Amino acid sequence: MAKISNIFVCQSCGGVHAKWSGRCDACGEWNTLVEEVTAQNPSSATKRRKSGRALQFTALEGEAKSLPRRVSGIGEFDRVTGGGLVPGSAILVGGDPGIGKSTLLLQAVAKLAGKGHKVAYISGEEATDQVRRRAKRLGLSKAPVALAAETGLGPILDGLMAETPDIVVIDSIQTLWSDALSAAPGTVAQVRACAQELTRFAKKRGCCVILVGHVTKDGQIAGPRVVEHMVDAVLYFEGERSHQFRILRAHKNRFGPTDEIGVFEMGEKGLAEVLNPSALFLDGRGDAASGAAVFAGIEGSRPVLTEIQALVAPSAFGTPRRAVVGWDTGRLAMVLAVIEARGGISFAGKDIYLNVAGGLKINEPAADLAVAAAILSSHYDVALPSDAVVFGEISLSGDVRPVGRADARMKEAAKLGFGRAIAPAPLKSGNSKSSIALPLIAIKTLPQLVDRVESLAERGRDFTAPQD
Ligand code: TYD
Ligand code: MG
Repeated sequence: MAKISNIFVCQSCGGVHAKWSGRCDACGEWNTLVEEVTAQNPSSATKRRKSGRALQFTALEGEAKSLPRRVSGIGEFDRVTGGGLVPGSAILVGGDPGIGKSTLLLQAVAKLAGKGHKVAYISGEEATDQVRRRAKRLGLSKAPVALAAETGLGPILDGLMAETPDIVVIDSIQTLWSDALSAAPGTVAQVRACAQELTRFAKKRGCCVILVGHVTKDGQIAGPRVVEHMVDAVLYFEGERSHQFRILRAHKNRFGPTDEIGVFEMGEKGLAEVLNPSALFLDGRGDAASGAAVFAGIEGSRPVLTEIQALVAPSAFGTPRRAVVGWDTGRLAMVLAVIEARGGISFAGKDIYLNVAGGLKINEPAADLAVAAAILSSHYDVALPSDAVVFGEISLSGDVRPVGRADARMKEAAKLGFGRAIAPAPLKSGNSKSSIALPLIAIKTLPQLVDRVESLAERGRDFTAPQD
């Protein structure tokens, strides 16, 4: 007989507790435990019935079918999904509310529908009229997309069984509820149960299920770990609401690379692909000013140039501020410590602000040298050469280490009109000299960079001049 019991589930990490407490032991979050009622069937949990069928093993070697892909034709979207949607896969698309997830997915499925795929869009958040209005605004009213507004998991699954679409969008997973559970919609139990049912449906019917999930303010999808484990791919749609760029980033992908990004621009007619993100991120860069360095980075398979801005200002408070947008605070502390210890500059009593222009988030350690250059440029109040890009990783010893794909970074910079690269000399092995697209201002250690910026400030000396 089913036994009814109460458990307490953390809404942040999904951890299960027998008793309520103010703090989740698993993830350390406060006030996240919510009571849920579960019906456990002890016979199924403890006793195993004979299945009458033994597991068949097979060799690792053998022919694997190549994955058929459903390509939307929106290049930025297809690249992040690993070359198109895979039948039978489940994808979670997460992002802040209002960032443009519904817009992106409506545009993508409309394109897929135009290519002859059978597509369904189920909205649990908006009425059909609202979705229609958006489609009209995007000029997609004619696309053969089957539309429904529903939040009950039962009717949705029944409808999908009858319709058997190739691709279905569920917007959003947090609005769905299964009547098999008494928990409220949006709780971990409901999100988990609904995501599990839909993933199972995807696998069974060869349908690609795209789940939309809202992200909580600290960057986690509500009920995150449970859903992330269940689906085949997790994509995040991010960006600053005040900027028009949006970045689609693969966080996990069983069918493709996870470091790819797709860049879009939100406009009057929805999201437009940005084919040359560097040009967009550097757009509006004024005349050479102190505190700015152009970083030649790599996002996935593509080089992307961005401007890193720093401001070093006297602090009015006892504890100076360190504010960072678009980069890691811990990494900034490390770069500052290395500049202080190895470069002999003190930032005591100085506020430091760091900003990656355009709303991009940079994760690469290769940005260390660009960050250091921007900070030094602001500290000495002297502009860096405006035709130079910067990249390189700084180690705690103050050495500047070469980073991967230096040739691709320099080629992109040359394409955008830059004439020099401030970077460590690339690794000799494998890289022929001819692949270096720009003249290099080789920086081997952090003190060398400090010397050059200092002599630029004090003597107006050109950055490339040899040091005495
Ligand atoms: P939406 O797709 O509803 O976001 P989400 O599903 O992630 O919550 O996007 C909402 C925002 O996008 C809203 O602030 C308006 C803006 N937007 C445009 O600027 N242009 C457009 O063509 C559309 C459809 C939306
Ligand atoms: Mg939406």
